[in-house]
Amino acid sequence: MQLSPRSLLVNRTRGSVRLQSTALHFYQNRQLELYAAKEAQRLTLRQLVFFGRSMNAQRLITSANYVRTELPVRIAHRLRDMQALPYVVVMQEGVAKVYELYWSAFEKFRRYPQIDTLEDNEAFCSFLRAILDDHASVIPNLSLGLSLASPHLPPDQLDSFMRRMLVSRISRRVLAEHHIALSDSVAGRDRDTDGDGHVGIIYTGLSVEKSVRRCTALLRELTYDSEHTSPQKGDDARWPEVIIEGHLDTKFAYIREHLEYIIFELLKNSMQATVAKHSGAAQLPPILVTIVAGVDNISMRISDQGGGLLTPQIKSPSDLFSFSHLRNATRLEHSRLGSLRTAVSNPAGMRATVEELVDRWQQEQRQVPDPQVEAGVGRHPRLGIGLAMSNIFARYCGGSLELVSIDGWGMD
Ligand code: COI
Repeated sequence: MQLSPRSLLVNRTRGSVRLQSTALHFYQNRQLELYAAKEAQRLTLRQLVFFGRSMNAQRLITSANYVRTELPVRIAHRLRDMQALPYVVVMQEGVAKVYELYWSAFEKFRRYPQIDTLEDNEAFCSFLRAILDDHASVIPNLSLGLSLASPHLPPDQLDSFMRRMLVSRISRRVLAEHHIALSDSVAGRDRDTDGDGHVGIIYTGLSVEKSVRRCTALLRELTYDSEHTSPQKGDDARWPEVIIEGHLDTKFAYIREHLEYIIFELLKNSMQATVAKHSGAAQLPPILVTIVAGVDNISMRISDQGGGLLTPQIKSPSDLFSFSHLRNATRLEHSRLGSLRTAVSNPAGMRATVEELVDRWQQEQRQVPDPQVEAGVGRHPRLGIGLAMSNIFARYCGGSLELVSIDGWGMD
């Protein structure tokens, strides 16, 4: 008899299983414990660049086997985390689905045979691509489940669980996507980087100004109808101008998708808030982006005049990152839960490229015909994931994201 991970979970908690399934359950959990007892071998972006710089067949196979053996360890840690959640949380819609996906991925990686040749590696890359696709619904599922579980978990516990889940998901996807990109380079299927150098998925000389311009251009191209609360395609005069100042030649090694996810999300919020606050004005106040290259860090400030966070629901701007309804009451709003359910069943736009964000945003605008100003940032994506994910992306490589509201004026 095969036990599904879900019945495993239920049975574990209820403690009532038939002998045969108990043995299987015991065996599977024993495997999980073996993997969860191992430490994750963390790599910095610098190490990933260093190793990936001089790729050849042998190094690619070493990389493949590292990914093959490292991912089940990291997934095992998260499965253990989920097993430690109270029963009432695990049983929320969405959480059990993520548990099943992770259990199935854990089993597949654990059983995946050693990779010895470039052909083996091609097959492994296809396997990775399929798992990356299968897991596209993880974030809306988790957000839905944890929002519903919010009344049953203290906010600190809920947010730290969610942070661990999301950071570790990013790190696993980075390993898998980086390995696929290295394999593509070795096979001569290199990505188009617009002339910028890259090693795998890491851009070695990523221009911050270019990323801001790229996100601005994408936002300007957006088209959606909302009774003139938002710009229309080609209606340039209705978009606030984006002025970029500071150290314009700043370049650094980073994952472009991560940086642009954050910039796109923040600029989008700033534009929506500015348009909403100044609708009818002859001229919209500009958004100012300041780029500063410090000694060992790079900072950006995006300042808008969209009115700030005037809302009784959110006490501190950082509460927008929280998944607890006690910090961010919008988590339990009917429309938000409904949008998450829709995203769960159609997760195509849940990956972190800016083009996919655009698609998702447009889908969301179509889903909710009744425009409402949410959380003081104008027409905001109904999933409520963008800012929380931007915070996680910023922290993933040791950075941070801070939202400062000057109520009645704007946001930094
Ligand atoms: C995820 O996307 O949630 C993953 O864990 C992906 C990884 C197994 C490659």
